[in-house]
Amino acid sequence: MRIIFKHIKELLQVRPKSVSFVSGKEMSKLPTIKNAYLIIEDETILNFGPMSECPNLKFDQVINATGQILLPSWCDSHTHIVYAGHREGEFVDRINGLSYEDIANNGGGILNSAKKLQETSEDDLYKQSKQRLVDVMQLGTGAIEIKSGYGLTTDAELKMLRVIKRLKETYPIEIKATFLGAHAIPLKYKTNAQAYIQLLIDELIPKVAKHQLAEYIDVFCETGYFSVQDTAQILEAGARYGLIPKIHVNQFTAIGGVQLGVKHKALSVDHLEELRDQDLQALQNTATMPVALPACSFFLGIPYTPARKMIDAGLPLAIATDYNPGSTPSGNMNFVVSTACIKMKMTPEEAINAATINGAYAMGLEHKVGSITKGKLANLILTKPISSYGFIPYSFGESQIDSLYIKGQKMS
Ligand code: NIG
Ligand code: FE
Repeated sequence: MRIIFKHIKELLQVRPKSVSFVSGKEMSKLPTIKNAYLIIEDETILNFGPMSECPNLKFDQVINATGQILLPSWCDSHTHIVYAGHREGEFVDRINGLSYEDIANNGGGILNSAKKLQETSEDDLYKQSKQRLVDVMQLGTGAIEIKSGYGLTTDAELKMLRVIKRLKETYPIEIKATFLGAHAIPLKYKTNAQAYIQLLIDELIPKVAKHQLAEYIDVFCETGYFSVQDTAQILEAGARYGLIPKIHVNQFTAIGGVQLGVKHKALSVDHLEELRDQDLQALQNTATMPVALPACSFFLGIPYTPARKMIDAGLPLAIATDYNPGSTPSGNMNFVVSTACIKMKMTPEEAINAATINGAYAMGLEHKVGSITKGKLANLILTKPISSYGFIPYSFGESQIDSLYIKGQKMS
């Protein structure tokens, strides 16, 4: 099946030669072709260029995209969309003055979600999660990473990972699974965290690897959760089974998680709301992608990751949703792109690079998605007629998406 999009007002993120990611000043460059065509064949991008060079061939479908912008679909490299129930009670508690930390200390937070998930059947968990996946696809997401971490027992963690596997087998969207058994210390282990870490190392990690349920391993490296030493033990155990680190660091406190991530060759270090100069320096000239989660900062009212400082220092940056029931109950990448511009002072070019090619890299998918490159998957957003691509972040809270294509199939 061959489809051609003709008269595209502007084709964004055109990279004839695939790049892994963009950093520093390169982030402000978004290569585009005005008045363009793009041909897709079955799942992949076959060709593209200016309309003046458009081939005169027969196609199964011709789409006239006059006035519309075409870009790669969003790459959301950090989510927790497999969860059970919601936590709007805690949201109200925060409005009334409790902090995220107070709530967690009272047995709420991640432990609240874990209790709900443990009591939910695998089928029900799948049903709740697939609805979120379908919703985010409608919002333009074409590749996504999903973490476990609301199970916190062997059975419940494996249940979460099997649900992720089933989503992967059912939907065309690219899905990467991350094992986050080290998301919180379960109540049962409150006075003996090392025993829980040992359970992760001796039982869970080997099982996850044996059943090939995850490619990545994550740890919530944070005061009151897992220390740098705990995180090191867990990452070392994961590495013995080929699990690559993608870790939560510096959300509330800077305790050395960034340095540890770089040392363990983490694919990404995520959050970074509290970033010290030495953390920024540790990331320089490494293959570790820093990931900012501005919708989490928005929802919790915590600082935003200092994107300007990082990009101006030459670093790359990806942005993702962090979709989860506690700190970010939204998987809307359009909102994330807007928030990156409005609150983190990223330009539209930087934000679009961060949400496409850099997000793809943070999931190990840069060879498949994240740019308009021959041979990459035809995962595309076709906008409504809009005046320029700056209109996408400018019209915050609105969706400018006319249609979404995943592996060449129209989703909406
Ligand atoms: O990325 N920080 C740790 N994990 C999630 C929030 C978890 C929750 O509150 O349920 C996050 O923000
Ligand atoms: Fe998270």
